[in-house]
Amino acid sequence: MSPSTPIPVLIAGAGPAGLVAALTLLRNGIPVRIIDKEDNFRIGQRGPGIFPRSLELFHFLEVPEVDEIGKPFNLIQAYKPGTVEPLKTFPMCAYTEPTPAFPIYNPKMIGQQTLEAILRSHLEKNSTYVELGSELRSFEQDGDMVRAHVVKKQGDKEVLETINARWLIGADGARGITRKQLGLTFLGETRDDVLLVMGDIRLVGKGIDRMHYHNFGDLKTATLVLRPTDEVGEDGFQFILLGQGLNSGNLTTNKEELYKCLLEMTGTEIEFKELIWASEFRPNIRMVNKFGEGRVFVAGDAAHVHSPAGGQGLNSGVQDAFNLSWKIALVEKGISPASLLSTYNTERLPVIAEMLGITTELLDRTVGRTESTQENAFERGQRLYMLGVNYRFSPIVVDEFTPAGPVNAYGLVQDGRLVAGDRAPDAPDLVDINQGKTKRLFDIFRPAYHTVLVFAPDPAIAAPLLSAVSQYDSSILRSVVVVPSSSTLPTATGTASDLVLVDQGGHAYGGYLVKEGETRIVVVRPDGVVGAIVGGVDGVHKYFGQVFSTI
Ligand SMILES: Cc1cc2nc3c(=O)[nH]c(=O)nc-3n(C[C@H](O)[C@H](O)[C@H](O)COP(=O)(O)OP(=O)(O)OC[C@H]3O[C@@H](n4cnc5c(N)ncnc54)[C@H](O)[C@@H]3O)c2cc1C
Ligand SMILES: *[C@@H]1O[C@H](CO)[C@@H](O)[C@H](O)[C@H]1NC(C)=O
Ligand SMILES: *[C@@H]1O[C@H](CO)[C@@H](O)[C@H](O)[C@H]1NC(C)=O
Ligand SMILES: *[C@@H]1O[C@H](CO)[C@@H](O)[C@H](O)[C@H]1NC(C)=O
Repeated sequence: MSPSTPIPVLIAGAGPAGLVAALTLLRNGIPVRIIDKEDNFRIGQRGPGIFPRSLELFHFLEVPEVDEIGKPFNLIQAYKPGTVEPLKTFPMCAYTEPTPAFPIYNPKMIGQQTLEAILRSHLEKNSTYVELGSELRSFEQDGDMVRAHVVKKQGDKEVLETINARWLIGADGARGITRKQLGLTFLGETRDDVLLVMGDIRLVGKGIDRMHYHNFGDLKTATLVLRPTDEVGEDGFQFILLGQGLNSGNLTTNKEELYKCLLEMTGTEIEFKELIWASEFRPNIRMVNKFGEGRVFVAGDAAHVHSPAGGQGLNSGVQDAFNLSWKIALVEKGISPASLLSTYNTERLPVIAEMLGITTELLDRTVGRTESTQENAFERGQRLYMLGVNYRFSPIVVDEFTPAGPVNAYGLVQDGRLVAGDRAPDAPDLVDINQGKTKRLFDIFRPAYHTVLVFAPDPAIAAPLLSAVSQYDSSILRSVVVVPSSSTLPTATGTASDLVLVDQGGHAYGGYLVKEGETRIVVVRPDGVVGAIVGGVDGVHKYFGQVFSTI
């Protein structure tokens, strides 16, 4: 490609955040290039906990494998320190029965290397391949584009390529260049008192089964978690060692030291088969002051790092990417003004700030800094599921019925209200009157368009609302009329909506808190968030007036 023709989007970094950004943009019809400085794809289980809101995100992106291959969390078995004598068994995440509004209510485990491979396979269907051995070294930007200087390894040689792109997403991890070059701050702290060693290992230990996650040691000195995972082999485990009492500086450089440590902490016979990889670090708790500048954005670990306790890192990173990408797509298509992109920062900052507080509290419990028991150190409460994360405070949401109230970005999963900025609930058992088929809202919501749900007692009442909606670009909008099951309908309707659905089970009216007989419009954004809850045409125009520049 000639360097003078800018590509729409360049993504630096092919970890989970970069891959989700790429896939979301492709789903929106926006071509991307995605580069990674590594010569090979990284291995390792790393961040394996996928929380329900991320599973929903993968559903919207039509990546079913994450849910299919992911495994439910096993029970934790804790032992008397230095022995394999069981003390107690408890869940990390108590099982929650799914509901019509929350069809995915339990987290899953999937190794990060597997997740990344799944995401790459979807990019490949769009003929998009991660360009390995390609490091972003620097960039400059003006009002029209970003000029990115990338060094590509070709054998022993380094070749410089300048890539012109209209937008750059820096998903280049905690040590990435993008944040530094933008001059964003990364304030916070490094917990020098806590050492963390993690990796993948193959071993057979007497008394160490493959049914439980095993927790050895004690919180005040050092803790070891061994999580069996077949992704690493039939004798494979992910291990995590952490604590204030772990003082060796060479557990990863010296395999024998690590084995000695595992033997001491478990107090059992272990046959070590293979150490696959390991890494050692001290937790950092930091975030940017801003998620981007001009045409350049940061997402994932490039924007926030924290203790792995609570498993919010990868999950927050993929949410960042998803939340940013639909906005870039609309601006790139010339439908929204560039100012829409500043709301990426406005919406994400409070969420991430709250997340740092939550994960730090968990870290303090896990290393015995605050009074804790194993149960409450390892318990992953529903707040971490991210189902309550909301943008009620966002300047681009419109709610004519409920005042936003104080900012509580992580929210509660259910607080009995539905306010613009909340996660849009699912609803099954909706009968398509033209096709007779049963649908659910989560199979309608997609990242490439807004969904306008018109709740009305019958399609005739919805008609004038639909004609008001039809003035917007139909390629980035779907309208759906939802009538209560009690309504009497003609067998087929000639309404201008894409779909007319009968709420057979009452789940849509129930979940969206609409009374039968009432007329209400709910606009669901491409990221599955409620953008507007309004009573009529004016409210719809107010919402789209803020998101689109032209009508
Ligand atoms: C022990 C542990 C357990 C964890 N558990 C969980 C968990 O259960 N759940 C969870 O959500 N998170 C967890 N995490 C965190 C999670 O692993 C990270 O948050 C996640 O990998 C971040 O993804 P990312 O895409 O933002 O960045 P990364 O995965 O770091 O990817 C960045 C990529 O950018 C590339 N890159 C860097 N610089 C450049 C450059 N200049 N040019 C081109 N490419 C570049 C790198 O090679 C890398 O591939 C855990 C982490 C640890 C350490
Ligand atoms: C990627 O593929 C999907 C499905 O075939 C298509 O809708 C989309 O436009 C493609 N994206 C690009 C950028 O070509
Ligand atoms: C690191 O390993 C060496 C042996 O290779 C050992 O002598 C040394 O004590 C270890 N260092 C620490 C800090 O444990
Ligand atoms: C971004 O979009 C998702 C849609 O999946 C939404 O639920 C969420 O609230 C936003 N993410 C976060 C974690 O803020």
